[in-house]
Amino acid sequence: MNRLATTFTGLEFVNPFILASAPPTESKKKILKAFEAGWGGVVTKTIGLHPVENVAGPRTIFQRVSEEAPYISRMKRTDTVSHSSWNWELISDQPLEQWLPDLEDIKKTYPDRMLIASIMAGAGSDEEMNNWAKLATACVEVGCDAVELNMSCPHMDRKDMGANIANDEDIIRSILGAVTGAVNVPVWVKLTPSTSQLVDAAGAAYEAGAASISLCNTFPSLPLMDPETMKFEVEVDGLVTSGGLGGLAILHQALQRVSDISKSFPDGAISGIGGIRGFREAFNFIVHGAGNLQVCTAAMEEKGSGGVGVQLIKELTHDLNDYLERKDYASIEEFRGAARERIVEHSAVRRKSGNYNGGYSIAS
Ligand SMILES: Cc1cc2nc3c(=O)[nH]c(=O)nc-3n(C[C@H](O)[C@H](O)[C@H](O)COP(=O)(O)O)c2cc1C
Repeated sequence: MNRLATTFTGLEFVNPFILASAPPTESKKKILKAFEAGWGGVVTKTIGLHPVENVAGPRTIFQRVSEEAPYISRMKRTDTVSHSSWNWELISDQPLEQWLPDLEDIKKTYPDRMLIASIMAGAGSDEEMNNWAKLATACVEVGCDAVELNMSCPHMDRKDMGANIANDEDIIRSILGAVTGAVNVPVWVKLTPSTSQLVDAAGAAYEAGAASISLCNTFPSLPLMDPETMKFEVEVDGLVTSGGLGGLAILHQALQRVSDISKSFPDGAISGIGGIRGFREAFNFIVHGAGNLQVCTAAMEEKGSGGVGVQLIKELTHDLNDYLERKDYASIEEFRGAARERIVEHSAVRRKSGNYNGGYSIAS
């Protein structure tokens, strides 16, 4: 019995852990290595139609803290533990024409693993809607099992792309219309956590045919400046721009957002992302309602595995399986969403006087 197997958005996953759209899924070589290691699926690095040129410096830094030097920095120090990743990397610079034969080969080599193409185009014109449809159609024709629409990249200059459009329900609906009209596979929508209208955006997406919401992309943020050198921890010619924070530092905020969506749409599928580096973080996403789990920073940080988390996927599957066996759960479905009812309004939590009780009893 494979307790790790899950059906998510109608797709059969050998285990619920997949690599998120990012450097670990930027090439055929890395994706094949990830599947060999045991990942249940991958979301490709986001594929677009517009030329991409990254900044002339590091695209990602990994920030760490230690008891001895308890400040956040990328600087090498002894006994540090991971705090976060910060990146300002753009979408894939590999053109669609190069991706297509690669995707076909990957799917043929690992037919039992889920291959999800992350795609991105613009908004506001028929031409851009056609671009979404073109990208989705091309990827599905070569065997991709699903597409994930990137409406969440936090560092886009174009106002009609990435996180810049995720507040606009009309745009969300039109893009979903274009994509669901073009392909017949589950369409996942990756939203930005950086909006006060996340629940409305998710509602619009589900209503317009999204099979799942993927959440979270990185949080818009700035790197730190060193007081002695007056340099940012990452900069080009002294300049920097808003980038994205990922890793452990965003775990709690990501959980809050997954919970918000899960409470509003208990039947809506959610792929949880943000700070997963072991079973305990994954468990927390599941109890808030996620039925699938995506990982980026922890895989990138693993040394000696080419940045695809070879050891990590072994630990994740081992530890989840061990938990399911100990609790005699047939699958994650038996505890998925278990925390949902226990997240309540502040006023529903009992006061010392005993007055305010939302009626929920933990003993039940
Ligand atoms: C260097 C880097 C590049 C990324 N590129 C993309 C991308 O192309 N498309 C996308 O949807 N998300 C991208 N992400 C976001 C990740 O997929 C993920 O949502 C985020 O890092 C949070 O997960 P984590 O805490 O496990 O890192 C990128 C993240 C990093 C660190």
